[in-house]
Amino acid sequence: MDIILSAKDVTRTYKVSSGQVEALRGVSYDFENGLFYAVIGRSGSGKSTLLHILSGLDRPTSGSVEVNGTDFTRYSDTKMAIFRRRHMGFVFQQYNLLDDYNVLTNITMPLTLDGRRADQDYLQEVTGMLGLSDKLAKYPSELSGGEQQRCAIARSVLAKPHIIFADEPTGNLDKKVGEDTMGLLRDSARRFGQTLIVVTHDLDIARKADQVIHIEDGKII
Ligand SMILES: Nc1ncnc2c1ncn2[C@@H]1O[C@H](COP(=O)(O)OP(=O)(O)O)[C@@H](O)[C@H]1O
Ligand SMILES: [Mg+2]
Repeated sequence: MDIILSAKDVTRTYKVSSGQVEALRGVSYDFENGLFYAVIGRSGSGKSTLLHILSGLDRPTSGSVEVNGTDFTRYSDTKMAIFRRRHMGFVFQQYNLLDDYNVLTNITMPLTLDGRRADQDYLQEVTGMLGLSDKLAKYPSELSGGEQQRCAIARSVLAKPHIIFADEPTGNLDKKVGEDTMGLLRDSARRFGQTLIVVTHDLDIARKADQVIHIEDGKII
């Protein structure tokens, strides 16, 4: 097996006024390169916390996370940010597009921040596949929710990350648009060889995953 991402006995405890919340209580998991994983579980079970720690947006209280055998959890904030830009792509429920920039600028932003340029053939292939070829000069406010989420997908795929993380990516879309959008995310990740990890409430989406990870009370069951 070709393991791209590995969590080893990860815990995450939040300090709150009333004491502590143990959001993750010892999670170990090996993610195989190129597969599509769905993370499911009740609200408050620890799904977002897990995604944030696997992707380097947050750090474990104890335990480690490795990408290709490299533990990045104790990197400085700056090094972590660079590591994320090189290795991780993100799709959020809220799209997180920049309103003041057009689609082209938005989807190439991670590359720009990393001092890289979009390969033009790849840009055309990705935007064509996501139905965005004629939207590149438009601004996010001129697009539908589904189109905005397709921009966020293009942005995540274009930088050629090893792993794409998505937290409830269809949460703001109606069922049909959500399923179509999710299908595009899955197809583009597969086509470009990216491992995809998606938190979802939607069991129809989870059913299409290669592996389903069920979290309950901060543990994989
Ligand atoms: N920043 C935070 N501060 C304190 N508690 C938090 C924080 N983020 C999450 N939690 C708590 O950790 C638990 C897991 O939350 P979360 O990972 O967001 O669950 P899910 O995404 O499955 O709904 C919940 O009890 C939640 O209230
Ligand atoms: Mg969540």
